[in-house]
Amino acid sequence: MSSPATPPAQPDTGTPDPAPPRLRVVGPDGKPEPVRPDRTMPHLRDRRARLRDEITAGAPAAVRRQHDLGKRTARERLELLLDPDSFIEIDMYRRHQSSSATLKSRPYTDGVVAGSGTVDGRRVFVYAQDFTIFGGSLGQAQAAKIHKVMDHALATGAPLIALNDSGGARIQEGVLSLHGYGGIFRRHVEASGVIPQLSVIMGPCAGGAAYSPALADFTFMVRGTAQMYLTGPDVVAAVSGERVSHDELGGADVHGSRSGVATLVYDDEESCLDDVRYLLSLLPANNLDVPPRAPAPDAEQDERPALADIVPVEPNQPYDMRDVVAEIVDDGEFFELHEDWAQNVICGLGRIGGDVVGIVGNQPQVLAGVLDRVASQKAARFVRFCDAFNIPLVTLVDVPGFLPGTEQEYAGVIRHGAQLLYAYCEASVPRIQVILRKAYGGAYIVMDSRSIGTDLSLAWPTNEIAVMGAEGAVNILHRKDLAAADDAAERRAELVAEYTDEFMHPHYAAERGLVDDVIDPAQTRAMVARGLAMLRTKRRRMPERKHGNIPL
Ligand code: HXC
Repeated sequence: MSSPATPPAQPDTGTPDPAPPRLRVVGPDGKPEPVRPDRTMPHLRDRRARLRDEITAGAPAAVRRQHDLGKRTARERLELLLDPDSFIEIDMYRRHQSSSATLKSRPYTDGVVAGSGTVDGRRVFVYAQDFTIFGGSLGQAQAAKIHKVMDHALATGAPLIALNDSGGARIQEGVLSLHGYGGIFRRHVEASGVIPQLSVIMGPCAGGAAYSPALADFTFMVRGTAQMYLTGPDVVAAVSGERVSHDELGGADVHGSRSGVATLVYDDEESCLDDVRYLLSLLPANNLDVPPRAPAPDAEQDERPALADIVPVEPNQPYDMRDVVAEIVDDGEFFELHEDWAQNVICGLGRIGGDVVGIVGNQPQVLAGVLDRVASQKAARFVRFCDAFNIPLVTLVDVPGFLPGTEQEYAGVIRHGAQLLYAYCEASVPRIQVILRKAYGGAYIVMDSRSIGTDLSLAWPTNEIAVMGAEGAVNILHRKDLAAADDAAERRAELVAEYTDEFMHPHYAAERGLVDDVIDPAQTRAMVARGLAMLRTKRRRMPERKHGNIPL
């Protein structure tokens, strides 16, 4: 038997030999050069693996410093966020092309790890800034990588997740860095309402960089390590003399409770990324999709007698609207957003009968559940998000009105209230209103009333829907009568009783078609579930236009 290295001699057929299998290049000395190595040759594979290992490991001192700061590296974060072995990295070998003497080293990745992976088997696009390389600062190459990932996310209709940890615009690349940011902002806006955009702040997010999370749908922040501000403490001190720490200026709690910039705040990176995964499980991949359904408990027959005990009959008694929500949603699971900001209204996502819904509710235990400037803004943004991503809205109403006063008026409560009104009027998803106790004046209209387009309005029997409360109404309507009465208190009580009998019950609204049904509180979950089933295929077309002009 002949060896493969010495093939048997071919019989002479008189025809030329077939072409040799490979072209051989002739070198300067006229001799053929060695055949170029096969792409799978082990030494090339090793070299590539070594380079990848080097890149993915990062510079040991910088990684150590990152850990000492209580932060994970970009790759460690991606490991926590994505399904195991699902990450496809793009542009790993990209480096800056700057010839500036101030940027001598040219590390691979250019300070951002970018690509795609899956979360619970569903595709997402992601970039994670790497603080160990130039402080995660954004230069031209980093920006181009981020642009690429954003373009892929939009083209494929998959959520975008940004893990931010960066000193902002890379100072050494000057205006090219600013140009890079502009490209990110433009892409956020193009993708707005098309794919969910989640921004996770896990380190500094300084200067104009903060506009990227501001343009996203949700901003997560980690206490102690994340800060967002347009100008840092040094600039603040130089300009105004005010001395503040990084955290006092733009830490997670500041943005979670005072500015409203952070939607969600966490004690550590792990719980933060856990919740990013959880939130994704409630969202559709894009605006043409619907949120994933979960195995459905039979909500349509589910009576909840506890509801009547949670809400006191007396209209001024406080209670926690979250207790009501817990009885209405599947397994009591409610993913609340902006938990510590504008607490007089609650907004969040849950499931009813397996379907994801967005819940907006007045919160009687904070400021008696009154609507004010920030509560209107908070709810308006949430309603618009739900509408953009095909998430039905359930609005739980128990509202005494809008907050009066100069502080509110001077700060533009009219504009902000109009934002909420606008958001509801525009929403084309299924909309269900449940009036639990009271709904007065403009706040009644704004909280998804029949007049602005709710699809199904349900009212508990004890409720009061009116222009205002009985006492206030009697004082205005019967001022002269009361002034002339021998016993003003007795006369007032009579008039209040008359007004209450005539106006302060749901049947006044139900007889006029403004409330579809007056329901037993225990049946709220079941009735909402039936309403959602009834409205599932709702379609509503708005007039053709370029876009509306939402109030400031
Ligand atoms: C280049 C930067 C950088 C930046 C940090 N580094 N920020 N390099 N451009 N913007 C580098 C540092 O030189 C350092 O490099 C490494 O990253 C780590 O930074 P440290 O300062 O040592 O870290 P720390 O003490 O933790 O402080 C982090 C920081 C601070 C608070 C973010 O670095 C800082 O204030 N940076 C500048 C922030 C800023 O003003 N950015 C510009 C904003 S204007 P070495 O080599 O020493 O390790 C902006 C405009 C955008 O972003 C406009 C868009 C419209």
